[in-house]
Amino acid sequence: MSKTAFPPGFLWGSASAAYQVEGAYQADGKGPSIWDLWVQIPGKTYNGTNGNIAADHYHRYREDVQLMKEAGLKAYRFSVAWTRLFPRGRGEVNPAGLEFYTNLIRLLKENDIEPVVTLYHWDLPQALQDEYGGWESRRIIDDFLAFARTCFDAFSPQVQYWIVLNEPNIFTQLGYLEALHPPGKSDLRAFLQTYHHTALVHAAVVKMFKDNGYPGRIGSSIAFTPAYAASEDPRDLRALELYYATGPWWFMDIYHRGTYPNLGQLLYSQAQAAPEVTEEDRELLTQGAGLTDFIGINYYQTAMVARADSSAQGQQRWYRTVPNPNVRYTDWNWAIDPDGLRYGLVQLHQRYQLPVLISENGLGAYDKLEADGVHDDYRIDFLRRHIRACHQAITQGVQLLGYCTWSFTDLFSWLNGYDKRYGLVHVDFESGSLQRSKKDSFYWYRQVIASNGANCLNGGGE
Ligand code: BG6
Repeated sequence: MSKTAFPPGFLWGSASAAYQVEGAYQADGKGPSIWDLWVQIPGKTYNGTNGNIAADHYHRYREDVQLMKEAGLKAYRFSVAWTRLFPRGRGEVNPAGLEFYTNLIRLLKENDIEPVVTLYHWDLPQALQDEYGGWESRRIIDDFLAFARTCFDAFSPQVQYWIVLNEPNIFTQLGYLEALHPPGKSDLRAFLQTYHHTALVHAAVVKMFKDNGYPGRIGSSIAFTPAYAASEDPRDLRALELYYATGPWWFMDIYHRGTYPNLGQLLYSQAQAAPEVTEEDRELLTQGAGLTDFIGINYYQTAMVARADSSAQGQQRWYRTVPNPNVRYTDWNWAIDPDGLRYGLVQLHQRYQLPVLISENGLGAYDKLEADGVHDDYRIDFLRRHIRACHQAITQGVQLLGYCTWSFTDLFSWLNGYDKRYGLVHVDFESGSLQRSKKDSFYWYRQVIASNGANCLNGGGE
């Protein structure tokens, strides 16, 4: 590989998720998801915002794909709304739902854009939540398998990249520990047990995919927040070890090694919160890990951790997160740390030796639409520095399949509504026209893709 380019075939992409862009929440036979109901509960979302209409991608996908074509995207990552295919989670497939994704995929292929399909990005059918508590029950495995098989049968071989689950660590943590996402619970044990069920679903789907000989590559995307110790004091170094054992390696090992890290098991057992793991689980998880083709990560930031406060509860009993004096923060207090991406990618490479797909990376910011467009030089700077970090990771041996910016168009943010913008394309939510306008970052990313990264590596900036 030349010093100034990315590998041939590198997937320069951009991403979205069904609930955050599609809107049309009751259209053409779609059933209710847990998010359709959650947003109706007063006080659950920012200023009562919801994704009922969102960017109306369901009706405007042709225009959006045209914009993707203009940007030169090599890949577009999106998710399938389970409730469009199975309004009640299982049973007869809804042909209109299938048709929407079939058309979207066809259009992407016609425009030489690789579809990267996420099966699950948090919008569980409400019917399954009502029937057996959704992710709390192992019954989710069979229903998910049936849903996944329908997608594989319908969209293979057009789709070559599959992401089974998006950020299982976040939706279980926010849903079962922090009570910020549906179903709004707060229980460490429930969080870890539901997380365990996500790992079982991932493994079962990967195994079914491989057993049936579907073509392509399959993995899941985990939110990865690498961390540093606040100092060289052994107590801070120990805190870092505890952070990884109960956090990143806890989440990743079970997907990519089929086991939980020993230290994490010890700590969670002491906290009487360790999940129930059967012999059968162990076998399935080991098989699933061995068959998974890549590690998907969503990277936004790093953390800094320090020794715990001995009287604290929860994870705070093992470590505390503290501000990092060496980095700047976004308006939402997320650490901007491109080198953290390089560092994290190298850690993953050393630990798992698997190819990595960066399925999300981006900057949430307040954008301003001016008469002549959105001048988001701060986003360009953010993306440029992270892409450079990717390149450094590649030169350090990481096998990187692709990089997806979050997001392509502006969209609904689960906890921040429509104020926090991520897109390369502005969407006019203010007037409700939903008109699309290309931001400066759109034109800049187009050049990055056209030069296979070279212009980004050689260009100005830090
Ligand atoms: C990831 C999710 O957690 O981060 C996305 O996969 C989400 O769905 C993105 O939108 C950014 O998070 P937020 O809270 O800033 O919208």
